[in-house]
Amino acid sequence: MEKKEELECCVVTCGLPLNANYWDNQYQNNETGWDLHQVSPPLKLFIDTLTDKNVRILIPGCGNAYEAEYLLDNGFTGVTLIDISSTLVNRLKEKFTGRPIQILHADFFDHNEKYDLILEQTFFCALNPSLRERYAVKSFNLLNTGGRIAGLLFNIIFEKEGPPFGGTKEEYVKLFELLFTLKQFDTCHNSIKPRQGNELFIEMEKKNISTDLVKLYAVSGITCSGCKKTITGNLMKIENIEMVSINSDFTEVMVVSSQPVALKKLREAIASDSKYHLNETKF
Ligand SMILES: C[S@@+](CC[C@H](N)C(=O)[O-])C[C@H]1O[C@@H](n2cnc3c(N)ncnc32)[C@H](O)[C@@H]1O
Repeated sequence: MEKKEELECCVVTCGLPLNANYWDNQYQNNETGWDLHQVSPPLKLFIDTLTDKNVRILIPGCGNAYEAEYLLDNGFTGVTLIDISSTLVNRLKEKFTGRPIQILHADFFDHNEKYDLILEQTFFCALNPSLRERYAVKSFNLLNTGGRIAGLLFNIIFEKEGPPFGGTKEEYVKLFELLFTLKQFDTCHNSIKPRQGNELFIEMEKKNISTDLVKLYAVSGITCSGCKKTITGNLMKIENIEMVSINSDFTEVMVVSSQPVALKKLREAIASDSKYHLNETKF
């Protein structure tokens, strides 16, 4: 009991970051309430539709990776797992010894290979919501054109502070629809019982858009939703800009355009107040 209170305090009450340390503690203390102990039923069904066994598949924030086990048992040869917890990754390396799989102890946001498919299972919801724009751009960059993200997203706002962090179909559609063709985005019909009715099964295909046109910038000086609205409006007025999405803590902005737009132009558009600054983000 004491240990549990300690863990809850670290993350929720004290607001410490959801970093490698946090996740490692969860695994070391077996505080893994999200773990299904089986391949996720909707993902199993989806995997069963895949015919090319050499397709390059990434499972970010893979946890105990039952999906990877299922993929390997079914002859898939191009599976990569990434997780930020070293304790977990060491366990996975042991579990999958001798099997054809790449297992990386890494931060998803620092990873730079190319994939045909990303499997999403309680990773997006484990991240601070301020990382959602970053997740969208990163996933876009990691996929080959025509590559897909498939998996599950919570379609519920949780009363308790996360993780997991919930959200709505509407906000996810807004976040992803310019970068991906949404092939499936509906309530999942075969979720596990406790999540029944509260998950969307998503399958989205990367659009044929150059990475020059999908950018993430670090922004500073925005302090309230009023400034957020002003900055969004000013950026949206620039020719060729199709979408501007400022993250929940006003530190990053995702910009999608139909033609490359110079950073100088973006800076000019927000220069109405000298407190606003914009810088390119490398990742
Ligand atoms: C809620 S758990 C879900 C695990 C697994 N997908 C499942 O459903 O059982 C979230 C996982 O994401 C990992 N994680 C969190 N942030 C990460 C990051 N930035 N890069 C890679 N893994 C991360 C955690 O270590 C943890 O294993």
